[in-house]
This record gives sequence, C-alpha cells and structure tokens, in this order.
Amino acid sequence: MKHFPREFEDALSARGRRLLRRPNAPGRRGALTGLLRRDFAQALPALLERALGDCLVLMDEPIPPELITDATENYAERLPKSVRVRTALLASRRSKAALRLEELGVSAMLRSSSFHAFAQALSGRALRKGWGTQVLCYEPGDYTGPHTDHHPEEPDARNGYVDLHLTFCNDDVAHQWLVSEQDGHLTEVTSLATRGGVTWYRLPFWHYTTPLVAKRGREASARRWVLLGTFLDARLPASRPEGRARGRPTK
Ligand SMILES: [Fe+2]
Repeated sequence: MKHFPREFEDALSARGRRLLRRPNAPGRRGALTGLLRRDFAQALPALLERALGDCLVLMDEPIPPELITDATENYAERLPKSVRVRTALLASRRSKAALRLEELGVSAMLRSSSFHAFAQALSGRALRKGWGTQVLCYEPGDYTGPHTDHHPEEPDARNGYVDLHLTFCNDDVAHQWLVSEQDGHLTEVTSLATRGGVTWYRLPFWHYTTPLVAKRGREASARRWVLLGTFLDARLPASRPEGRARGRPTK
C-alpha cells in the first residue's frame, strides 16, 4: 500500500464498493470479511503498531473484589462492566496519538463521508453526520466483560445507535470472540480474529469480548487493532440539536 486512503471508499474491495453503492441493509448486526482491500488490511497492523505503539493508554477496570468480600445475600451479585484494553486518546487533537493518526491518514479516513455512507448501507438506517471515532488495541488477555452499551441518560442515544468496527489482527493472534445475546441467552458467537473484518451493531444489547489469545510463543507481539465509528440516528425534523455519541470503548 503506497498511500493511505483519505476516503474510506478507496479502502474497499470491489465487493465492499458494491455494498456501498447498492446497499441491501444486511441487518441490525453482522460480521463480514472481504469488504476491504487486501493490501490495505495486510498493511494496517504494522502501520498502527509503528504509529501508536508507544502512546496507547491502558484502560484497566477490574471487577471490584468487594462484590464478593462484602456480600451478605446469596445470589444477589450484580456484575458491573469490567474491561482491559489499550486505547488511543483522541479527545484532544493535539494528543500524541491524535497527531500520529492524523499524520498516517487514519483520522481523515474515519471522518470521510464514505465511512458514514458505509455505516448507513450496513445498518440500513439514516445516520447523523458528526460521529465519534476510536482506536483500540487488544493485547493477549485483553477483553471486555458483559455489558449492553445502553445510554438511557442520553436522549440522542437512548433509543439505540450504530457502531461500525474494522478489525485488523496481526499474524500472531490465535483467537478472540464476540459473544452476543440472542433470545435472552449469551449464545451467539462471532470470531474477531480477522484481518480486515467488518462488524456492525445496532446497540444496545448484551455482549462481551473474550480475552485475546496469542499463538504459542507469540504473546509479546499479538495485537488486535480496532478502528471504530459510533453513529447516532439522523435527526427527525424539529428534533433536538445535534450532539455527539459518547466515546466509550465498546468491543
Ligand atoms: Fe460493547
């Protein structure tokens, strides 16, 4: 790959471009491979590692031990969201991570109109212009515990919103899975160990991400990079003024 695409459309394979132009609304959530250019997907893990390897921030929110030590009632536990993942801080455009992503062209691509159009094509919904973006990195043992991504306190998000994730695992990843609720049980399993996989979700719903597992002897270098966008529904006429989706890591 000689140039990082400024428009997301230029990172799409022929199949991805067909989906963009003739959307058939695959559904509320799904996972597809083969939608991104092979050379783009191959190049991304090393490019992201070089750009962000020294400026990721660890998000480490374990299960509080007091939920067991202080418990007084049988079977009364309530599991809060627990997570361990690395994230690039993009809230400030002057942060080291933001500057590196700008330089690499990732930021422009995630802000491009065709990235928004792709999210609309996959979700089958009109989505608001002005969306949140994040870059996450899972290393061996990194995971996200069960949660819903429900934001009932936020009027613009309480009735649901759309996440679009692009996954780039390097060759050292053995597996990582997304487990989602289906008919009230956590039984739907999707592999996240892809290079160039596209997943999209109409949130909220119960889900968790299993710990990333490296291939034997490759624990030091296994990485799963995630580029993601969070999209609110397009405003109806005479609705609230535009807001932004909260930038919470989700997968
Ligand atoms: Fe999530």
